[in-house]
Amino acid sequence: MTVEKGGPDATDRMEAGVTGMGGLGLGGLGLGGRVAVVTGGAGGIGSAIAADLASLGARVIVADVDLTGAEKVAAGLVSESALALALDLASPPSIEGFAAAAGRVDILVHNAGVSIVEPFVSSDPAGWDLMWQVNLRGPMLLTKLLLPGMLAAGWGRLVFVSSDGARAGSGGEAAYAATKSGLFGLAKTLAREAARANVTSNVVCPGPTDTPMLRRVGADRPGLVEKITRGVPLRRLGTPADVAGLVAYLCTDRAAYITGQTLSVSGGVTMH
Ligand SMILES: NC(=O)c1ccc[n+]([C@@H]2O[C@H](COP(=O)([O-])OP(=O)(O)OC[C@H]3O[C@@H](n4cnc5c(N)ncnc54)[C@H](O)[C@@H]3O)[C@@H](O)[C@H]2O)c1
Repeated sequence: MTVEKGGPDATDRMEAGVTGMGGLGLGGLGLGGRVAVVTGGAGGIGSAIAADLASLGARVIVADVDLTGAEKVAAGLVSESALALALDLASPPSIEGFAAAAGRVDILVHNAGVSIVEPFVSSDPAGWDLMWQVNLRGPMLLTKLLLPGMLAAGWGRLVFVSSDGARAGSGGEAAYAATKSGLFGLAKTLAREAARANVTSNVVCPGPTDTPMLRRVGADRPGLVEKITRGVPLRRLGTPADVAGLVAYLCTDRAAYITGQTLSVSGGVTMH
């Protein structure tokens, strides 16, 4: 991308706060030469994140317990060197094997998640264990293995996909919200510990987003998805692309000064 130094409308554009670079007037958005891991990359939001990172030039590793799904996503990416690798975040040996196979990683998007929706008083602690393992312990273990490489390289991006259900509370999701809330403290603390190495760490919280996860929750509860949609100020469910756009931006050099933040993509359901 080249900087446009002049041209008949350059002054107008500078006065409007536009720097004169590219269609959006923004530079520093490319990810050429970066290696990105997207966990849960076979899923609704994860596949959109993988697509956006690849379109910005990153070499994307699509990581998922569903290897067939991950392979399909990787095959559809614009990046010729995209790769699918098996990763079960509930299994420490799987995480270790994945990290060894992935090699150098510059961008780590913790997107995989599981949700079991049930009233807290009748919830099964076995379900809590699964959500703790996949939603919080797995990201901690994987970060412990991949962050040292970013610190040594002097550049890195950690993005944790949490949930507005954790920010604001969500009926039937106490254990899920507890595990997803853990990501807030984790991301902020890593932001402080890694800042000197130019590694940023942020959290993105989707609101209700039209993916297989939401459809599974709605399947046993007629009318729930419609009710949720009516509660959204922007009057629609989020799309995976809505969430992916922010995640991808946070991975760029343009977002180099944003760290330790928690940002919602929820159509205005929660406002902070
Ligand atoms: N859809 C929503 O409304 C919504 C709202 C808030 C937060 N989120 C969060 O967004 C993220 C993506 O969710 P989604 O809606 O795309 O769901 P999804 O079910 O479409 O995708 C989740 C992906 O995670 C993978 N996964 C599950 N267990 C795994 C494990 N043990 N190891 C590795 N991968 C595993 C699945 O195979 C799947 O590909 C999740 O963390 C979810 O909690 C979603």
